[in-house]
Amino acid sequence: MSVMFSCRSLLLLLLSVCSLTAPSMALPFEQRGFWDFAMDGEAGDSTTVMMRDEEGSASEELPPDVFICPFGCHCQVNIVQCSDLSLIAVPKEIPRDTKLLDLQNNCITELKENDFKGLTNLYALSLVNNKISKVHPRVFTPLRHLKKLYFSHNLLTVVPKNLPPSLVELRIHDNRIKKVAEGTFSGLGSMNCIEMGGNPIQNSGFEPGAFKGLKLNYLRVSEAKLTGIPKDLPDSLHELHLDNNQIQAIELEDLRRYKHLYRLGLGFNQIRMIENGSLSYVSNLRELHLENNRLTRVPKGLPDMKYLQVAYLHSNNISQVDVNDFCPQGFGMKRNFYHGISLYGNPVNYWEVQPATFRCVADRLAIQFGNYKK
Ligand SMILES: *[C@@H]1O[C@H](CO)[C@@H](O)[C@H](O)[C@H]1NC(C)=O
Ligand SMILES: *[C@@H]1O[C@H](CO)[C@@H](O)[C@H](O)[C@H]1NC(C)=O
Repeated sequence: MSVMFSCRSLLLLLLSVCSLTAPSMALPFEQRGFWDFAMDGEAGDSTTVMMRDEEGSASEELPPDVFICPFGCHCQVNIVQCSDLSLIAVPKEIPRDTKLLDLQNNCITELKENDFKGLTNLYALSLVNNKISKVHPRVFTPLRHLKKLYFSHNLLTVVPKNLPPSLVELRIHDNRIKKVAEGTFSGLGSMNCIEMGGNPIQNSGFEPGAFKGLKLNYLRVSEAKLTGIPKDLPDSLHELHLDNNQIQAIELEDLRRYKHLYRLGLGFNQIRMIENGSLSYVSNLRELHLENNRLTRVPKGLPDMKYLQVAYLHSNNISQVDVNDFCPQGFGMKRNFYHGISLYGNPVNYWEVQPATFRCVADRLAIQFGNYKK
């Protein structure tokens, strides 16, 4: 019974969308599910189809699987669960039809060339919380259908090369990555989502062309050592999370590339200055998170952001809020009213702010003021 339960929760975990960690407020846009993303993009599509064809002929020649399960693991139809076993290497004899392979919470230090041999059907692989620092350049070659690779909490210093072209989601949070080399993600036309926060990476660690060829939707590089918004990230991004870095300013050109952003997370940085006009490049933005920075004014340009619904500005150093800081003058410009504006933790007295400042807010409860305590 407990085995069944844990397999079920594994399944739920692995099938979840990438932005699961985002706050679960009413989303101002549809977060599309994994299967939608998988069908995105011509490059991704055609490679997937080609691979299916190759595979079809190859698998017919193989003898049917006998029931095997690596010692100590729990095996169910297409699921092999080998977590929390103190394994120091990937177990042998993983059934060829395995779709989900869970190796988390072990002591694996290295991925060797033949570790995943024959696992052409593998869809999701979790290596979370091991001690992996070494990855053989051809270890992923057999994984022609791998879509989700969870590599968080390991000891990697670079993003492994030769990731499977079928990959859609990569989580490589909390490693020791300082560098993403040029071409790391080349050929990954289906990739949608990368979570790589918690790595000691600086802006210079992203080599020019590091993200070339990617049509990413979601990228998180939080809790890193960034001092500015990286300028060379995929221009397809809908969500960019850069909270908990050391960013000090947003300069005019910084957001130029990211026209499709819906959600931008810049909380817990040291931003004092947002150059006038820099937000005009992200005119589709729904959510802007700037809490816990050092802003002294509401950023310029919010009234022109027709779709903006959430503006987190709490715990800054904002001492004055003007009547036209949030809403356009007159009617017609704003398509979506605000659902959330947070201003608490700023040295501004709410009774000094004119009520008309919030004329384009859906509901008065959507404004969080609170009291400023010195
Ligand atoms: C910001 O730029 C707009 C035009 O883009 C201009 O009208 C406005 O006066 C500027 N504000 C400041 C404070 O420079
Ligand atoms: C807050 O802003 C004021 C100027 O408005 C400045 O004198 C003060 O040093 C700032 N405080 C912090 C913590 O940045």
